[in-house]
Amino acid sequence: MSAERLVAVIGGSAAPAGRDIGLEVASDTDTPWGKPSGPVRAGSIEGRRVLWLARHGEPHAIAPHRVNYRANLYALQTLGATDVIALNTVGGIAAHASPGSLWLPDQLIDYTWGRAASFHDGESLPLRHIEFGEPFDPRLRALLARAASDCGIHVSVTGVYGCTQGPRLETAAEILRMRRDGCDLVGMTAMPEAALARELGLRYASLAMVVNPAAGLAAEPITMEAITHEAAGCMERVLRVLACALTLADQGFD
Ligand code: HPA
Repeated sequence: MSAERLVAVIGGSAAPAGRDIGLEVASDTDTPWGKPSGPVRAGSIEGRRVLWLARHGEPHAIAPHRVNYRANLYALQTLGATDVIALNTVGGIAAHASPGSLWLPDQLIDYTWGRAASFHDGESLPLRHIEFGEPFDPRLRALLARAASDCGIHVSVTGVYGCTQGPRLETAAEILRMRRDGCDLVGMTAMPEAALARELGLRYASLAMVVNPAAGLAAEPITMEAITHEAAGCMERVLRVLACALTLADQGFD
């Protein structure tokens, strides 16, 4: 990896233990924006340097609308991150967004409200309007798409991520509205994370795993057991894509 490039992963939960992934605490301190969700860990996946932060804390206890997204991104950048790969579990809205599928969304629609959505809100820092037509960094998405193809793992390379407030799941009518809006996936965490990353000049992309059909789209109600089971089933492929992506980043893929 070129000296200045460092990839951080924001995981939906703690870094998986074992395998080739050994992560030590790199920082456990406050930022000017408050406390990150938990310790930032530094280490490697199959020998490639990486930072890892569990978005919902360790243990998993911080609701999506209460995550301190500003502190998380600020802490990662302070530790040298240049690129952020966000892991997001999502519900599938598009017909081909079946549980177990992996996605690199290229667009998003923000349905969240009341979150601290900017560093530059005119209070803490002077007001700024960032360009956000492409909310996920096209070059980092291309790197992830190439990584997935190099390691023989199928990912859908476009898709619209609709970000809801949570922590409750959606109603069936909300999902139908989101489908009419053009959403393929529904999750609770890509915003304001993606916008804050852009404000800091970090490259940011989401690697999303579909863990359930969205509300009303399957005969059975959604259960947390099914979500947890499906997410665990995706993790092996996600780690392989990450390992390939870190290798490409090391090789200077741009
Ligand atoms: N809705 C919102 N967020 C989610 C879902 C869902 O169905 N599944 C996993 N995260």
